Amino acid sequence: MEIIKLVAEAKGKISKLKKEGKSIGFVPTMGALHDGHLSLTAESVKKNDITVVSIFVNPTQFNNPNDLETYPRCIDADLEKLSEYHPDFIFIPEVEEMYPEPDTRVFDFGHLDLVMEGKNRPGHFNGVAQVVSKLFDIVTPDNAYFGQKDFQQVAVIKQMVRELKSSVNVVPCPIIREKDGLAMSSRNLLLDEEQRKNASKISETLFKACNLAAEFSVNELKAWVVDEINKNPYLSIEYFEIVDDTYLQPIESWDENNVKVGCITVQVGKIRLIDNITF
Ligand code: PAF
Repeated sequence: MEIIKLVAEAKGKISKLKKEGKSIGFVPTMGALHDGHLSLTAESVKKNDITVVSIFVNPTQFNNPNDLETYPRCIDADLEKLSEYHPDFIFIPEVEEMYPEPDTRVFDFGHLDLVMEGKNRPGHFNGVAQVVSKLFDIVTPDNAYFGQKDFQQVAVIKQMVRELKSSVNVVPCPIIREKDGLAMSSRNLLLDEEQRKNASKISETLFKACNLAAEFSVNELKAWVVDEINKNPYLSIEYFEIVDDTYLQPIESWDENNVKVGCITVQVGKIRLIDNITF
């Protein structure tokens, strides 16, 4: 496992390996790694000759400066965890290395970023696309692995790949959960003990909603979820939407012929947690 900090060095090493015919798997992360990231790393190591993991807290995707400042950073623990999975390269650039000058590119996601996270965090997905497209240029992966917890992010990155006519294969991987059901997230580290206990109510509510879908209309179920979450004094719901899995359009009826995903964002104190479930 070799640590690389410079773009030119990463490009040089990877292009040499590509010329030797090696396949490249890539796991982009912002660090504070948990079992979700490690499962992506394991999948990449299994399916590719070479695996690159990046750790970079990308400033352009934070629309809230306080969120950027408090985002957990624990590089030594991250490297120790990664070493057990034997990726080949860990790319850890500084901000100046990734953004020698401001990135002014604006991506067109159609309506994909006008709903849910896009609507509630303006500019967030444009920042994600800026950094992921830069990372794809440097790493030139055959396969890039993303967690389905960030369901809308996966849809947006697939759209970016289409827009850029990139040949990267975007591989979505299942949500990894804590024992009590809470979706693993680096932000879980920011919860205090009581908040952490109550946060499990989010996934519990999604699982129950899945079972109730047969009895309730879409609108009734949405109202039920909002009510369930807001009943808990530690939680405040930002949105719960049931959308189709490709265009992320709200569905009106269970009869529609598409895959339906319930997406939720909940504020736990100052911490925003997201989760989703496929109906
Ligand atoms: O999902 C994340 O951690 C980030 O959005 C990503 C894809 C690493 C881009 O900074």
